[in-house]
Amino acid sequence: MNPTSPSRIPATLIPGDGIGPEVVEATVQVLDALGSPFDWDVQQAGMAGVASAGDPLPAATLASIRERRLALKGPLTTPVGTGFRSSNVRLREEFELFGNVRPVNTIVPGRYEDIDLVLIRENLGGFYVAHEFYIPQGNDPHAAAVCTGMNTREGSERIARFAFEYAVRHGRKKITVVHKANILKALTGLFLEACKHVAKEYEGRVEVDDMIVDACAMQLVLNPWRFDMLLCTNLFGDILSDQLAGLVGGLGMAPGSNFGRDAAIFEAVHGSAPDIAGKGVANPISLMLAAAMMLEHVGRAGDAQRLKQAISATINTDKVATRDLGGTAGTRQFAEAVCRRL
Ligand code: NAI
Ligand code: MG
Repeated sequence: MNPTSPSRIPATLIPGDGIGPEVVEATVQVLDALGSPFDWDVQQAGMAGVASAGDPLPAATLASIRERRLALKGPLTTPVGTGFRSSNVRLREEFELFGNVRPVNTIVPGRYEDIDLVLIRENLGGFYVAHEFYIPQGNDPHAAAVCTGMNTREGSERIARFAFEYAVRHGRKKITVVHKANILKALTGLFLEACKHVAKEYEGRVEVDDMIVDACAMQLVLNPWRFDMLLCTNLFGDILSDQLAGLVGGLGMAPGSNFGRDAAIFEAVHGSAPDIAGKGVANPISLMLAAAMMLEHVGRAGDAQRLKQAISATINTDKVATRDLGGTAGTRQFAEAVCRRL
């Protein structure tokens, strides 16, 4: 790692769980080859946080992000069904990271070509508020389960304005609001109404339409090119962003970033991939592309572009790719190949 100098940008680095440390190491390596502007403070979270500090979100990690307001994080494992609440969700709440940006672009031509889509997901509300409880009956304490979701007008207008501003800044033409307002008339109806309200401010600059989530899922398979940007509630955005990843080669190809009032956190869309963790075969491109988004965020668009071009040339010209893309390279080998390109 480069020595600290006053001109360097302080940022928190969270290796995370499962394949996290592997893809984080690969990403830091290519950033260094690029002349990384970041001065990393390495902190733990997730199972690694439990192991090192007895807490999936240790106080030192929160303090580091609070001070630096900028973080790159590996995926964090969340127990399924029982156990502690997702550290990802807690991080978003802690720093009010309301805007989740998940772009997908074709790098490796596959089933689909020329995919260029951006999904904006409301990151704090909806069903992820997760006010859940069980209703007991007879001897069964879990006879029924209830989940309450919540979208506020203020929160919905905030994410809509964020999406339209993103569209204007990035020269995007159309936003499709994704909802289920035919069934969840209040929860997603309010979201749709708020988005349409905000859309009026952008009339003539950004087009808007809307689609029911199930129809949208099918259209994304049949004709993804009809879309430009998707604006989604929390749960639908989570589901559809994995689907978008599938259009460009899978979860190894999908970066994401979380923006809020108090911080910006960059990460991959994928999780800790326990099935391949520790094997050195994970595709690090998602996190590398997240790092490219982070470079853009700090005003280093040129470096971001160089990184994206190096990744593309490594795959398409040098024919070096990880297993999920049909290649044979391990995570390290792939990172070294990108470094050579840089
Ligand atoms: P996952 O995204 O970890 O894995 C799904 C499938 O995609 C697996 O077969 C995996 O091997 C593959 N995959 C994912 N990333 C890959 C990569 N970079 N290269 C090659 N293959 C890759 O989803 P899963 O298995 O549902 O979740 C595992 C854990 O991750 C859970 O504890 C979950 O809560 C957590 N998670 C964390 C996220 C975060 O920290 N932002 C996001 C999503 C899940
Ligand atoms: Mg997800």
